[in-house]
Amino acid sequence: MELGNTDPVRAGRRRRVLITGAGGQLGHALRQAFSDDDVTALTRSDWDVALPPSDTVSRGEFDLVLHTAAWTDVDGAEADPQGAAAVNVAGTAHAASLKAPLVAYSTDYVFDGRKRSPYVESDGPNPASAYGRTKLHGEAAAGHQAWVVRTSWLFGSTGNNFLRTMLRLGAERDEVAVVDDQRGSPTYVGHLAEATRELVDIDLPRGLWHVAADGDCTWADFAEAIFDEAGLGTRVRRISAAELERPAPRPAYSVLRSERENAPRLPHWREGLRACLAEMGR
Ligand SMILES: NC(=O)c1ccc[n+]([C@@H]2O[C@H](COP(=O)([O-])OP(=O)(O)OC[C@H]3O[C@@H](n4cnc5c(N)ncnc54)[C@H](OP(=O)(O)O)[C@@H]3O)[C@@H](O)[C@H]2O)c1
Repeated sequence: MELGNTDPVRAGRRRRVLITGAGGQLGHALRQAFSDDDVTALTRSDWDVALPPSDTVSRGEFDLVLHTAAWTDVDGAEADPQGAAAVNVAGTAHAASLKAPLVAYSTDYVFDGRKRSPYVESDGPNPASAYGRTKLHGEAAAGHQAWVVRTSWLFGSTGNNFLRTMLRLGAERDEVAVVDDQRGSPTYVGHLAEATRELVDIDLPRGLWHVAADGDCTWADFAEAIFDEAGLGTRVRRISAAELERPAPRPAYSVLRSERENAPRLPHWREGLRACLAEMGR
């Protein structure tokens, strides 16, 4: 791998890896996947990425930066697009300013969702939401020397995500109303973290990579699979996104696939679901 400073292998030391947003669900999974490395995991209270890195962070001489810190409140970004941009655009520029090889994470929400076959890297983005626009600008802020990993519908054993919400609602109710006219690929953060390791360990070329679970479904399908795998008898009432009247529009279709050679392949989303439930001891 091309390294920012001294090659850690030649220097006889472990790779120094910085994880931003380490308190988030992907940050949590990356800490596990990179546990053989010398990891510095910074939460928002350690480094607010909307601000330039402190001297201590800048002096870290990292071999790799895994930049997960982001404004992920999709609806909240409509009300405060500048706040979202401060984190998703300026924050990514600050991560890139460390001058170490960088992995920056982006989203399927950079697409408008009008396609009906998987989006590949050469498809033109056209975000419909403020969140999607800030993430697209964030991709540019990461620079040409970064791996920009677009992924979708993340879930894990920690944090706020659809899986955890459904497990909570499923325990409380007999029926849950779930959107059935948006289709994507729910991606387990543990699988994405392993794929990130593959990307950097093999030193695949920098640039855009679509990395999401195999298979696709609607949110309602995903909810049914969650209740099924978790042994809950909760019913799913299928509704349209319009019925929810959320502030931010979401793409109706945002399945991601890679058209690039040697792209990391992730297991099917249902396998990710089972792996995540097992991690949660369910
Ligand atoms: N979640 C998804 O479905 C999804 C889909 C596609 C792509 N992505 C992208 O994948 C990446 C990881 O997402 P995730 O699901 O792990 O999100 P997450 O669980 O919300 O984690 C994001 C982390 O960033 C932190 N953060 C927010 N503002 C910050 C700031 N100014 N400085 C430092 N840290 C800050 C958050 O801290 P607080 O908790 O304290 O706010 C949180 O710990 C993001 O780039 C996201 O855009 C996510």
